[in-house]
Amino acid sequence: MSKVLTAYFSASGSTAHAAEALAKAAGTDIFEIVPEQAYTADDLRWTDKNSRSSLEMADKGSRPAIESRVENMEQYDVIFLGFPIWWYRGIYRGCWRQRHHK
Ligand SMILES: Cc1cc2nc3c(=O)[nH]c(=O)nc-3n(C[C@H](O)[C@H](O)[C@H](O)COP(=O)(O)O)c2cc1C
Repeated sequence: MSKVLTAYFSASGSTAHAAEALAKAAGTDIFEIVPEQAYTADDLRWTDKNSRSSLEMADKGSRPAIESRVENMEQYDVIFLGFPIWWYRGIYRGCWRQRHHK
């Protein structure tokens, strides 16, 4: 039988709720992608061009460091990856790739 992981990043809780519901319904393991530096409410101000999220999204090479790491990734056959949409793009996929597929 396939072993499945639900991994997610959530800055303000919505993706976390969805990921928890999915993991429970599908019976998967669950893993939170935790950035080294947590996002504050000020960081998430999309109306401010100088907020952390605006600056990161403006920099295509930006890959904020991830603190958490999945041990023994080889055990998983399928991974559901959950993330919020920021500026029409899914975030933290690049960080995840960089952290787990070196
Ligand atoms: C910096 C920033 C940019 C966003 N850009 C978009 C967007 O382009 N389109 C959209 O539908 N929602 C956008 N949102 C809303 C988030 O996708 C939405 O609030 C999401 O549920 C947040 O997930 P979280 O609570 O797991 O962090 C943005 C939110 C932030 C903080």
